[in-house]
Amino acid sequence: MHERIEKLRETLAEDLKSAADLKELEAMRVRYLGKKGEVTLLMRKMGEVPAEERPFFGKLLNELKKSAEGLFDNRKAELESKDAANRWERERIDVTLPGRSFSVGRKHPITLVLEEIEEIFTCMGFKIAEGPDVELDYYNFEALNMPPEHPARDMQDSFYINPEVLLRTHTSPVEVRTMEAQAPELPVRIISPGKVYRRDDDVTHSPMFHQVEGLVVDRGITFADLKGTLLMFAREMFGKDREIRLRPSFFPFTEPSAEVDISCIVCNGKGCRVCGGTGWLEILGSGMSHPHVLRVSGYDPEEVTGYAFGMGVERIAMLKYGIDDIRLFYTNDLRMLSQR
Ligand code: PHE
Repeated sequence: MHERIEKLRETLAEDLKSAADLKELEAMRVRYLGKKGEVTLLMRKMGEVPAEERPFFGKLLNELKKSAEGLFDNRKAELESKDAANRWERERIDVTLPGRSFSVGRKHPITLVLEEIEEIFTCMGFKIAEGPDVELDYYNFEALNMPPEHPARDMQDSFYINPEVLLRTHTSPVEVRTMEAQAPELPVRIISPGKVYRRDDDVTHSPMFHQVEGLVVDRGITFADLKGTLLMFAREMFGKDREIRLRPSFFPFTEPSAEVDISCIVCNGKGCRVCGGTGWLEILGSGMSHPHVLRVSGYDPEEVTGYAFGMGVERIAMLKYGIDDIRLFYTNDLRMLSQR
């Protein structure tokens, strides 16, 4: 018995030194001092020891147990302080690792073009005006010299909410709304960007698209003002070599009216596939404000004149970025939208 106790004392002391961390130490403590630990088992063996020797060995074993507990506690404290010192290493952050990158969104091509158009015209002294997408038939058609049954209404097939209310088919109603609100104050000089709606759907037409309206009303406004302003716009938007061409056209709310083309941005007027061999690209409709429109909006056509224009933003974006299908603007395909 004596030998076994001494042997245990020695191996325990040896083992303790080899415990490398707190986990190992705890396993070791169970192995020696646990319910089925070696020290405990030895204590149970006391029954086999002759009665007169029991007090002696009992004492010895108790001492062993006590000192073993002390040793474990010491070693535990030692490992704990070592562990705290190592924490810096263990929890070290490698600040040289590349960070997680955030992907930043970017502006939609239509937004970019809208902002560019707004920038060009505000630099020329235009203010920005807005009107509702859900519009009265009166502003969308009647005030613009298109009474019910007027054949020109057929050019803009519409979405009606009820007989008096529809989704506006163009931004021209904002002309009337702006003048009504401002009359008789002069000058009126606005552009109006926004969404418009038509019953159209193919590679160059979408049921919802964007327009920018322009309107200038003052004493002595002439066709030359219209042409000069639009030439300036064409060159700012599509390059300083651009030329423009005005072709006679018809709109009920302008008289005379003109379709405005720019010299082809691909071939510079020589004729190519993009311009269909003509050398010209149509970009907007325009004209001198019809007396009816001025009158119903609160201005006297004997006293003032005005010009107006309306351009399709998608069309301009398609030309500028070489996009051949209008639906690409609305399908949210990032392969398209993340390009510039
Ligand atoms: N509103 C017309 C259209 O959508 C364009 C236009 C605006 C024409 C202003 C002349 C003057 O077709």
